Parts: sequence; structure tokens; C-alpha cells
Amino acid sequence: MDSLTLIQPDDWHVHFRDGEPLATVVRHTAQRFGRALVMPNLVPPVTAVAEARSYRARIMAAVPDFPDFNPYMSLYLTPRTTAADVLAAAQDPQILGFKLYPAGATTHSEAGVAKLEGIYPILEAMEQCGVALMVHGEVTQAEVDIFDREKAFIDDHLAPITERFPELRITFEHITTREAVAFVRACGPRVAATITAHHLLYNRNALLVGGIRPHFYCLPVLKRERHREALVEAACSGDAKFFLGTDSAPHPHGRKEASCGCAGCYTAYAAIELYATAFDRAGALHRLEQFASISGARFYGLPVNDRTITLRREQVPTPDSFPFGADRLIPLTAGETVAWRLYGSSGDDRPSR
Ligand code: NCD
Ligand code: ZN
Repeated sequence: MDSLTLIQPDDWHVHFRDGEPLATVVRHTAQRFGRALVMPNLVPPVTAVAEARSYRARIMAAVPDFPDFNPYMSLYLTPRTTAADVLAAAQDPQILGFKLYPAGATTHSEAGVAKLEGIYPILEAMEQCGVALMVHGEVTQAEVDIFDREKAFIDDHLAPITERFPELRITFEHITTREAVAFVRACGPRVAATITAHHLLYNRNALLVGGIRPHFYCLPVLKRERHREALVEAACSGDAKFFLGTDSAPHPHGRKEASCGCAGCYTAYAAIELYATAFDRAGALHRLEQFASISGARFYGLPVNDRTITLRREQVPTPDSFPFGADRLIPLTAGETVAWRLYGSSGDDRPSR
């Protein structure tokens, strides 16, 4: 198959940051996706409905030529989140839920939750109001090996939460292990997971063989090959519990290429193209639409998009960098080509803007 037309996909996990960088990164997402779920880990974090609303307005102002792009917002769950915050979120149709960052787990997670049992009353309120919980699933204890932190989080925290709050809609974000795949499958229909393109395409060798490659460093960190294979199997299975969330996480070039480089891979510039590459390698291009355009919308109780996009098999060189305010942003596949090109939506045959 050299050409593929899909219902327009959505990105159910993306980081846009704020200020000048929005001009670059929101455009990349809006060129491809009908909707996005925007992560709230700004500094300071987006914790209240009014803040999310004004952040959303800044996002839309960054892409005036994409008036139909529809970013949904998430709020940052903190130890100070109240039941009134939950109620306010439930009443705003542009807010899909709260993002739980275990304190210290990842980039800009300092404001997160250190003691998960302490927020159980808030989870109960979310369960009652039908507000979703998006989870960064890694423990943070220093003694736990970084490659085991997702599995430990399932055992120590996520399993107890799903048992205690069976009606709570939970998205286990950016899963990276076969244990996470098995856990999500074993849960009821209210538990689903996003999978990134980079975790489908790469194992931890991409990060560490031949030198440390900081642009491949993200959290949860890339795992060994058998985990990548389990993720590909889940994404390509047609199981509606697994859907697209890029976790595209832009950082200025100097924060990545540093003695202590920060976590986050930037993929928004070719996101659906990279997923197509992964599905194609698995012989499962016919399953891409379910994963990218249908399952996530269904999980969040939304209709699928009414436009389509077309991808064609072409070698597309990746730019070395993109402008990022006064700085530069290095794309994950810098120096390489991507094997698919995006063409305009709804049968429009021109290359996309
Ligand atoms: C994300 C970021 O940079 O905001 N980084 C990452 O490695 N994925 C935070 C996150 O989603 O963990
Ligand atoms: Zn993320």
C-alpha cells in the first residue's frame, strides 16, 4: 500500500509549552490532527479551569489559519486539588480530565503528588463526575531501577486504584512495557492506554548504542526490544483500549544536549507519518485508523472527525531543527528521512501546509 487515506487522527497526549514556541509546535500538531489533549505541565502548572481556558486561547492564537483544530485541555492534579476543582472541570466540555504526575517522576513534575493515597477523595470525586484520570505511571523511589519503574507503579499504585475506583476512566499514558500492555488488557473497559510513536519504533539501543543520544531520552525511558514488540502488537491488534498519544515533548536544543539533558522526544512534525512507519513495518497499516482516529475518541466519548487525511509513501528529509522562540528544537529523526508524506485533508491533494 503506497497511499493511505484515514479519518483524521487525534493526538491524545501532547506537550505544547507556552509563549513563542507555540507558533512552531502547535502548527505541527494542527497540520495532522483534528484534536489534541494538551498536557498541563507548564511552569507553574495549569491547575484551574480558568488557566486552562486562557492557555487554550493562546494555543488557538498561535495557529489562526487552523480555526478547526480543537485542543482539549487537562488539569494538573496536585495535593491541593479540591472536589470543587473536579466539579468545575466536569462542567467544562473542553476539559477531559486531570493529569497525575507522581512528584519527581518526569519533566516539570515537581508540583505533582507524592502520596497517592492522599488524593483518593479526589479520585472518588472524579469517578462520580465522570472526569478522566490521565496517569504518568512510574514510581519515583531512588532505589527502584529506572527500567522497572513502570511495572512497580502498576503493582504499587495503579492496580489498587483501578480496584478501588472501578468506574473511574483512566488513561495509562505512554505505556512502555509488556507488563503495562497485559495490565490494561486485564482491566475493565474504563482503563485504556496511549502509546507513542517513538516507543513503537525504537528500543533502548537507540538511546545508548554508539554514544548517548539525548534526543531519544524521554520518560518513561525506552525499554528493551521485547517490550517494544509487545507495544507494537497491542497498537496493531485493533483493541480499542490502545490509542494514539504522541507525548511529543519539545525542549530547547541546549536543554537536551547538556551534561544533564532533560526528558522528552519531539515528534509532532511527523507524528502520524512515524506511526504509519511503525504500523507498516508490522504489516498492519489497515489497523492504523482504528488506533489513530477511532479508539481514543470513543474512549473519551467523542465522535470521530469528519475529515480525512492522506499519507503517501515518499522519502521526506527531516529538517535539522525548527525555530523554538529564540532557540532551536531538534526533531527526533534529524538527519534521517521519514517514509511517508502527509497530504491535505478531505481529498485535497496538495501537500499540507
Ligand atoms: C515530558 C515533558 O517534557 O513535558 N517528557 C517526557 O519525557 N515525556 C513529560 C512527560 O510526559 O513525562
Ligand atoms: Zn507527556
